[in-house]
Amino acid sequence: MADMEMQDEYGAERQRHKDVKQSFPSSLVESGSSSNVVKEYPPPYAGMGKEMVLHYSNTPAFNRARKVLLMIFWGSWIVLIGAVVVLTVAHPRCKLKPNIEWWQKASVYQVYPRSFKDSDGDGVGDINGIREKLDYLRELSIDAIWLSPFYESPMRDFGYDVINYTSVDPLFGNMSDLDSLIDEMHKEVDGRDLKLIIDFIPNHTSNESIWFQQSVDRVEPYTEYYIWEDCGNATHLQDPNNWQSALGTPAWTYHSTRQQCYFHQYQDSMPDLNYRNNLVKEEIDAVLRFWLDKNVDGIRIDAISKLYEDYNLRDEPAGDESADPNDYYGGYLNHTYTKNLPEIMDMINRWRGILDEYSTNTDSGPARPRVMVAEASGSPTQLKMYYGRTKDGGANFPFNFGLTRINESCDGLCIAGLVDTWMDAKPEEAPANWVLGNHDKSRITSRVGEEKLDALTMLLLTLPGVSTTYYGDEIGMLNINISDRPSQDPVGWSDKSLSRDPERSPMQWYDNSSSCYGFTSDCQAAWLPPHPDAEETNVQVERDDPLSHLSVYKNLSRLRREETFSYGDWTTLKVSANLYSYLRSFNGLTSYLVVVNMGDTALVDEDFSEAVSKTSATVAAITGKSSYIPGAKADLMKVSLQPGDGVVFSWPYIAQ
Ligand code: GLC
Repeated sequence: MADMEMQDEYGAERQRHKDVKQSFPSSLVESGSSSNVVKEYPPPYAGMGKEMVLHYSNTPAFNRARKVLLMIFWGSWIVLIGAVVVLTVAHPRCKLKPNIEWWQKASVYQVYPRSFKDSDGDGVGDINGIREKLDYLRELSIDAIWLSPFYESPMRDFGYDVINYTSVDPLFGNMSDLDSLIDEMHKEVDGRDLKLIIDFIPNHTSNESIWFQQSVDRVEPYTEYYIWEDCGNATHLQDPNNWQSALGTPAWTYHSTRQQCYFHQYQDSMPDLNYRNNLVKEEIDAVLRFWLDKNVDGIRIDAISKLYEDYNLRDEPAGDESADPNDYYGGYLNHTYTKNLPEIMDMINRWRGILDEYSTNTDSGPARPRVMVAEASGSPTQLKMYYGRTKDGGANFPFNFGLTRINESCDGLCIAGLVDTWMDAKPEEAPANWVLGNHDKSRITSRVGEEKLDALTMLLLTLPGVSTTYYGDEIGMLNINISDRPSQDPVGWSDKSLSRDPERSPMQWYDNSSSCYGFTSDCQAAWLPPHPDAEETNVQVERDDPLSHLSVYKNLSRLRREETFSYGDWTTLKVSANLYSYLRSFNGLTSYLVVVNMGDTALVDEDFSEAVSKTSATVAAITGKSSYIPGAKADLMKVSLQPGDGVVFSWPYIAQ
């Protein structure tokens, strides 16, 4: 039925077509063998054939107009394409603002809990003390706190010797204090929260941990939780090999109950866990999940270089025979079989996977990207391993301890060398990171002198990537002298020169000695004495002084929030003994020129105009003694700085 209707319609159409065809001029009729055959035009050309249209449009005027219009049309296309090519070639490609996570540009502040703020008067800092000082930390414009260990511990390494990984030592408070600290830190103030990175200590436990005690007694499943080897008997001991602990002593200790030796990379009270036992891996996974469930933002993995040792227990190869055999770090042995073994990456990648799970899903709110920082030791090239081989593997970065080697003789060339070594060794896409000091190193102000502290702060906060500040370095705290007192740090008990007490003295808050400068209500009880210069070097006094170390730190830290510092390019400019300088810039953003004098002579009238194609700029930040005035215009053709001074110049982006 439908077919018939279609045929009818088509028939009517053919009739209409025939009528038109009879009225065609003869020139449009095709002369075929059967003469006068006219082309059939099926719909949709049924109304007027192409020839007919051409016939009427083939007038000279129409042809001319058509030619002109075609020329205009194609001409415009050619001009347009040419312009696009010229502009693309002539102008540098605009970089897109990268998508970066908080930790790639973070300013991290290390809190050593024993020494930061005591809230209960027992002379040891605690978690509630840290909570009391959160406003101060926000005032520093930091992004994250790295909190050194607070776990239950006999304190033979002040918390790095853990009894129970999922607890809080009563000395520091309790779990609900920690929960409150995390909640408080995560509250946004002026649109920013504070992140918490905890110390994660997988390499060893305390010998007082229940795991070790059960292992000693060969109680399952703990028997192989640690690294046990036969080593003769109590009357005739024979270490399994020549491995050494970080203290320079043998790394094997005999246990008379088990009648075997256990291995320890650190003190004999800190036995190493056995990562060739799957049960250990599962235990540590559970610990990690426990803390991620508590919403911590990341982990700093302690002593990661020492997680695995050679399976065959081979002797370490000899190093420098003239070095002191009792100095682990002196080079007498090459620690080839006990450090930076490739198996470590299996564990790092395993933990990375767990962190990533939490970075993308959480039951307790929106996803929070979690960071993994590796505390590894080795050359920058060796440390490269820790970034992993794939984008999704590895730690986010290993700490860069290059700048912790700086002393007062490290001038501009020396600093540039240390910075370049790290920048050249790290994978291109990984963020850089900078550390000036920590709880294991002599304080930066004691190493370089007060004069140069501000310039180093300037570098720390304006170089690309992550900065880490050790508590008290922002006010210029110095090492305390412990020559007239015993070492609190057990590492210094037999050799005081190894003690880390000098860099761990109480934070100096106020100029009031009766309150132990604000650290604790009972200064007699303070676990270490405050530095004698606390009267002048403290938060209260420095807060009121616009030229103090604290004010310099705060100004630079605020400036650091500018996007250019978060992801801008970094280009080294002039370098000499008394000059280190670089440019931070990014398409569309304000540019910054950083110049510091780390030398011993004045820098006079240095001309930067060619290096930055500018003759003047605005002073964006200065070190305390610098003669530049923040906010003022400055001549870039004559930059002068005294030793230890630094200045940041800025100018707005101007589209070319
Ligand atoms: C890390 C810590 C250090 C500790 C050692 C053993 O190096 O920074 O303080 O003594 O590991 O845990």
